[in-house]
Amino acid sequence: MTGVPIFPPPPGSAAALPEAPASPPLAPVPDPSPDAITVLVVDDERSNVESLEKIFLREGMRVLCASDAKRALEVVRTHRVHVVLTDLMMPGTTGLELLRAVKQVAPDVEVVLMTAYGSVEAAVSAMRDGAYDFVEKPLKRVSIVKSVRKAAERQKLVAENRSLKDEIKRLAHRDLVGSSPALRRVVDVATQAAPSQATVLVLGESGTGKELLARYIHERSARARGPFVAVNCAAIPETILESELFGHEKGAFTGATGRKDGRFARAAGGTLFLDEIGELQTSVQVKLLRVLQEGEFEPLGGHTQKADVRIVAATNRDLVAEVAAGRFREDLFYRLNVIAITAPPLRARREDIPLLVDHFLGLYCAKNGRPRLHPTRGSLDRLMDYAWPGNVRELENVIERAVVLSRSDALGEADLPEHIASAPAAASTQLTFEMGTPLDEIELRVIRETLRHTRGDKSVAAQLLGISTRTIYRKLDGVADDGDRPR
Ligand SMILES: Nc1ncnc2c1ncn2[C@@H]1O[C@H](COP(=O)(O)OP(=O)(O)OP(=O)(O)O)[C@@H](O)[C@H]1O
Ligand SMILES: [Mg+2]
Repeated sequence: MTGVPIFPPPPGSAAALPEAPASPPLAPVPDPSPDAITVLVVDDERSNVESLEKIFLREGMRVLCASDAKRALEVVRTHRVHVVLTDLMMPGTTGLELLRAVKQVAPDVEVVLMTAYGSVEAAVSAMRDGAYDFVEKPLKRVSIVKSVRKAAERQKLVAENRSLKDEIKRLAHRDLVGSSPALRRVVDVATQAAPSQATVLVLGESGTGKELLARYIHERSARARGPFVAVNCAAIPETILESELFGHEKGAFTGATGRKDGRFARAAGGTLFLDEIGELQTSVQVKLLRVLQEGEFEPLGGHTQKADVRIVAATNRDLVAEVAAGRFREDLFYRLNVIAITAPPLRARREDIPLLVDHFLGLYCAKNGRPRLHPTRGSLDRLMDYAWPGNVRELENVIERAVVLSRSDALGEADLPEHIASAPAAASTQLTFEMGTPLDEIELRVIRETLRHTRGDKSVAAQLLGISTRTIYRKLDGVADDGDRPR
């Protein structure tokens, strides 16, 4: 195996080169491995290039050669190169200019310069421009190999780091993961509601993704370019909630040393997410009602202002019960409840668990800089069987913990918390359905869950359900046949 010659034939032709003196046969050079370092040697002196090529080939590297900066740049553009080893002084474009051009075209590629004895100044300036290292001529085999190897190691690290960062960025844009009919129905309503100005009330147990749904609505609304401002009504003390929401003027109350915008003002042009609205004190409920009715608010000690926000509110409380108990104003409830969306609990959409596990494994492996883990069959069964009272947030925490603590290259049962790993198989023997769920969907879920319960044994499942095994096959096949139809 030889390097890929990109060196142009010298003036005249290749035949004009003096014949190499017969030398004793050398041991054959091994083929570089697929993950071998690729080094591009750039020098106008052909003999130099040839001896460097020999050195690197013997080191198991892949070698590309170029006689000037222009060709070198072409190679960097068209080939996967890890390290460029270039002479500093070349006719035409210098090594320094090549360095700058390479950094522009391929910032991850490391450049090592070969400098003539005494040109330290140029070398220092090259380092400032991003060269990895420089080696002085006459070249010493050991030091040149060492320098190129270290440059390649750094190139690999930088490239890996960059791809991890990309992965994190991609995943940080949090998507609503899941394909269950229950989630799809909710997402459909959210998608329809998003472009309107209507107030949306997101209901659901803790950790079901209410805030994620609120952001989803914001991102698909005409206000997507505006701010998304969240207020956790439960976390802000009652005494300051009003000024937090509406802002205040200087001197409006003791301690108001300056004027301050509230969340309504900060969310102007965007969406105001009122989280845990069920915890809102009655005094603030009245003020909020006024904003919703009149589209205006008043900072403490200030003048009336127009409210330019779209409201999305969320709660895990049963607001109807809160109204009945006299803790939540009925008129405010009706103002908020224009479009209500209920985020389904995770146990009502177990088929989303594998997707979510995969999603969080990707996220946390990338965050922790470790190779991608995949769940074993056993651990996935345990995760599918568990009841998830804390819903998606609990699942996310379990996966993050497993990624941090796991020592193997798969996510096994041993990586799960004890109460999940040892949960009795098919812990839940109950299914929950939303009112109005189509019957064929209910039928299918019952069949699937029964099959999980019997660990895939179709004849036991058929006995339990009082139908024939053939019917089970037929129902399941029916689904496979009409792929996209929402069920
Ligand atoms: N469908 C989903 N896909 C991906 N991630 C999700 C999904 N649902 C929830 N999550 C994640 O689970 C966590 C909890 O979600 P979120 O904060 O939206 O829930 P919540 O209903 O507002 O919870 P709480 O009532 O406790 O405030 C977040 O990290 C969120 O990104
Ligand atoms: Mg929340």
